[in-house]
Amino acid sequence: MSQSRKVFIQTYGCQMNVSDTEIVTSILQENGYKMSAQIDEADILIFNTCSVRQHAEDRVLGRINNEMTRKTENPLLKIGVIGCMAQRLGTRLREKNRAIDFVVGTDQYRKLPEIIAQLYHNSCFRENIQINDKEVYEGFYPCHQGRFTAFVTIMRGCNNFCSYCIVPYTRGRERSRRPQEILSEIRKLGRSGYKDITLLGQNVNSYYHDNVDFPSLLKMIDKIDSIYRIRFITSHPKDLSDSLISTMASCGKVCEHIHLGMQSGDDEILRRMNRGYSGDQFLQLTRKLRKAIPDIAITTDVIAGFPGESEEQFQRTLDLMREVEFDYAFTFKFSPRSGTRAAELDGQLPEEICLARLQRLINLQEDITLKKYQYQIGKTKEIFVEHFSKKSEREVSGKSRDFKITVFPGSSDLLGKLVKVKITAASGWTLKGSAILG
Ligand code: SAM
Ligand code: SF4
Ligand code: F3S
Repeated sequence: MSQSRKVFIQTYGCQMNVSDTEIVTSILQENGYKMSAQIDEADILIFNTCSVRQHAEDRVLGRINNEMTRKTENPLLKIGVIGCMAQRLGTRLREKNRAIDFVVGTDQYRKLPEIIAQLYHNSCFRENIQINDKEVYEGFYPCHQGRFTAFVTIMRGCNNFCSYCIVPYTRGRERSRRPQEILSEIRKLGRSGYKDITLLGQNVNSYYHDNVDFPSLLKMIDKIDSIYRIRFITSHPKDLSDSLISTMASCGKVCEHIHLGMQSGDDEILRRMNRGYSGDQFLQLTRKLRKAIPDIAITTDVIAGFPGESEEQFQRTLDLMREVEFDYAFTFKFSPRSGTRAAELDGQLPEEICLARLQRLINLQEDITLKKYQYQIGKTKEIFVEHFSKKSEREVSGKSRDFKITVFPGSSDLLGKLVKVKITAASGWTLKGSAILG
């Protein structure tokens, strides 16, 4: 019966969730389900959700409310929630919306075909949110969505317990995939035309399996002929070793980009965030990176309005951002997550202070990003072309090694290729240029 059933999956949240959707797709397809990009055609709707901030959860609940009416038109339609919000809320999700038929947590995707099949025998609500600290979905080749770029999850979970963060609770303890599995997946990707590979983990630099650490893994992947580029996200400053920096510098395929969450520039706030480094240590790390890899782009995450953050402490965050000059920063307003330590701390700040500080982070970073991008004008950069530009089929779009989106005139024969491009303009966080042919 499952052969005729079509599944529509909507993914929210980080790259980890995108990668999980690719695993879930593979699990469901192996069990006879068909994927559909058209929600109207689907028999089963799955929402792969994020819990990182309250806003992320509200968006999903709003969306499910909107889609609920589909059940009146099609009483056999099933609605499921998977991902971090499923893991965090379990049956409480059903209390929020009676249209939800199943809730499956981040370590139980193997059970999805069985759970969905059961629903067609007996339509009572199903939940499975057991954490399995060993699950890495070995044996499944994810159904990668793009054509030329691919995410490869190398580890799952997180042991860091930053005091504001829900992820260690929604994804369980850290566990790494076997190096041989990772290498064989990447070889297969390379043979299928995927040339730009991003390794994923909440803290990739603590990857460890069978005496293979992250720098050793990078060196192994660097030898795979069929791929052009290797990226990885996310690195934790406290685990960014000299060995990783020198490996990044020496491996030709490892791109000149690192995403390194700063979160705050104030030592006391960093301590209360449980980040394991001071503002100065963070600054020294970025200097070390730039010394070893001169053109490296550094991007970051920053939180405004952590509990108890004074104006002076916030100023130190702005100061450190000015000092480091990130190429880009993802900025967030602190969102208390129930069950985390920061949600219980004294000194929760009013919304308007958090919002005003967030805006100041955004304004500062916009100026820095513009300056950094304008600095690229006149340079020749190697762009890996991923797709047509959003605005025109006469332009193509890709990324430089230092993670800058670059748009230039070109046609379909450039897709999936490395092209030298002379940069002529910069706007927002996009570069424009023209191909140097020959
Ligand atoms: N593991 C990654 C790291 O440590 O860099 C980040 C993972 S988290 C999904 C992405 C970002 O969300 C964090 O770096 C942090 O800036 C932000 N974040 C996490 N919890 C938050 C919260 N409760 N409120 C606001 N921002 C939060
Ligand atoms: Fe969250 Fe910290 Fe783990 Fe990143 S390292 S996922 S911010 S607990
Ligand atoms: Fe990612 Fe959101 Fe979960 S950021 S790990 S999908 S809480």
